[in-house]
Amino acid sequence: MILGLVLGFFWWNKNKSDLSNTSTDPSLNNVKNSGKLIIGVDFSYGVMELFDANGQPAGVDIDLGREVASRLGVQAEFKEFDWDNLLPIIENKEVDLVISSITITEDRAKTMLFSSPYFNGGQVILTKIGNDTINSINDLKNQKIGVQIDTTSQEAAQKITSSTLITTYKTWENSKEKNGIIYDLKSDKLDAIIVDYIQGVDSTKNDSEIKIVGEPFTQEYYGIATNLSNNSLIQAVNEALRSIKNGGTLKKIQDKWTKS
Ligand code: ARG
Repeated sequence: MILGLVLGFFWWNKNKSDLSNTSTDPSLNNVKNSGKLIIGVDFSYGVMELFDANGQPAGVDIDLGREVASRLGVQAEFKEFDWDNLLPIIENKEVDLVISSITITEDRAKTMLFSSPYFNGGQVILTKIGNDTINSINDLKNQKIGVQIDTTSQEAAQKITSSTLITTYKTWENSKEKNGIIYDLKSDKLDAIIVDYIQGVDSTKNDSEIKIVGEPFTQEYYGIATNLSNNSLIQAVNEALRSIKNGGTLKKIQDKWTKS
């Protein structure tokens, strides 16, 4: 009898927690019921996220978002945000997911949920071709450095040089135009830029004035982010990612955008 009660209690407890998992976290059901997966993106980041010649969203993260959505049985819908608004919108649930070359960091993981990693990032230095003084991060002290605001590039720069020497930029869009980060490097307002490797490759490709210096000097991984309460959604995203990785789709997407 006592044994029966104890077993009964465990059974009840187990069912209670199964129930509470689904009933307190409707995030996955909400997405499925709406038929849409709304994804926030800061466009203009190399081949990761861009607008194509027809003004349509394109790039590694866009293809990835579409693959995730199709595995959840819904349509992906992309919404544009500036980078400095992108992480806050995860907290106020304006989107279901953010896919935007976001580096998984311990600090960010306090305010958002991350999927498993899907891309190997890492910071590099850009300088002008002909600059022979900057050959590694050791040469960056007392140099004027440009970074995109609130990124791991800014964090890396702050470890290297004093904040007064760092200029922050809201976006990479129009970076070659007046007041853009690349323009400022070329016109010697900056001595160097610190940026994710993939954007560094994009910025220096077909440009005879600037170059990447050496190899990435940090190890970082990109993850898909969602609101802290969206447990069922992130579990489904991780399942989708597993099949996208194991089935070779992720590699295909990356090759499509990086090997041309
Ligand atoms: N990986 C860097 C970070 O998470 C930079 C990402 C910038 N992404 C973008 N779409 N602008 O801080």
